[in-house]
Amino acid sequence: MTGPARGGADPGVAAAFRETMAAVCAPVAVMTGLEGGLPHGTTVSAFASLSMNPPMVLVALDRTSELLALVRRTRRFGLNLLGAGQAGLARRFAAKGGAAKFAGVAWEPHAGVPRIPGSAGFVGCTVAGLAHGGDHLIVLGNVVAAETTGDAPLVYHRRTFGTPAALPEVSG
Ligand SMILES: Cc1cc2nc3c(=O)[nH]c(=O)nc-3n(C[C@H](O)[C@H](O)[C@H](O)COP(=O)(O)O)c2cc1C
Repeated sequence: MTGPARGGADPGVAAAFRETMAAVCAPVAVMTGLEGGLPHGTTVSAFASLSMNPPMVLVALDRTSELLALVRRTRRFGLNLLGAGQAGLARRFAAKGGAAKFAGVAWEPHAGVPRIPGSAGFVGCTVAGLAHGGDHLIVLGNVVAAETTGDAPLVYHRRTFGTPAALPEVSG
């Protein structure tokens, strides 16, 4: 791991930063893990494609995340990329609750982690490493499975769920 960042946050800057980042349109996924046959899922927006050769992703998880602890033990995780009709799943998995969060939610094991059918996409990973990121840990993943449906994505902007719309073509 790289070393932790040092220095306290200026409260004014922290509040402004929070509002500034709320204005950034973010993707939404349910990150999943599997342990003892039980599924666990957590809503995440702090994820991104990292590398193409080899294919890698990164996800930032709060150090208090229960899923983070599970993923550190099992060394595998999935990203179920949510579609425009799945805001309910995003809200459900943003709560605490362990495996109970999956009550009534369909899933199937894929690449050793829960895949939620009907999601707009899925990426399965093995853990390549961890890095410190303030009050979060950055989980680096080697991609072992990837698929997309082409469905419209769910996004999060100003604390509201939505989906993007294309701008009209501008000629000249
Ligand atoms: C739209 C949205 C995006 C979120 N993104 C993240 C994220 O990227 N990383 C994170 O640690 N928590 C994120 N959260 C908060 C977690 O989903 C929440 O803290 C959850 O209860 C953690 O559950 P766990 O302890 O079972 O892992 C997000 C919540 C919402 C609503």
